[in-house]
Amino acid sequence: MADVLVLNGPNLGRLGRRQPEIYGATTHAELADHLVETGRGLGLVVEVRQTDAEHEMIGWLHEAADASIPVVINAGAWTHYSRAIGDAAAMVPAYVEVHISNVHAREQWRHVSVLSAGATGIIVGCGLGGYDLALAHLASLRQD
Ligand code: DQA
Repeated sequence: MADVLVLNGPNLGRLGRRQPEIYGATTHAELADHLVETGRGLGLVVEVRQTDAEHEMIGWLHEAADASIPVVINAGAWTHYSRAIGDAAAMVPAYVEVHISNVHAREQWRHVSVLSAGATGIIVGCGLGGYDLALAHLASLRQD
């Protein structure tokens, strides 16, 4: 059983090919491998998943809620309008909202988040390193 789930939403499976000037050249598979390693260094079993299907993301959040597993979530564009994702995340014991890009320096519609109010922490604009920061934060909460 994972200690932390990293859940990536729509279009993040295309990392490495999708607007590399914004999201970088690393693929999702490479990111996933890296985060499992980061987790190992922090003493955490990390599982990384990605979906383009909203119902699947909601199911994973329910799973995290039922098993009391903290989550790192980049909900992609759902962040900005999906109240269903926001409601599901609210059931999880702790979650860190991550955005690779600085959403506040981009279009106005990206400035709104259904996730931020309930988040344990929010990391934006730190590139893929934001996921590592989120894992380190969740690891530090376990030690408190
Ligand atoms: C994103 C920012 C969102 O606005 C966008 O829709 C994404 C990625 C980010 O990681 O910077 O898909 O969440």
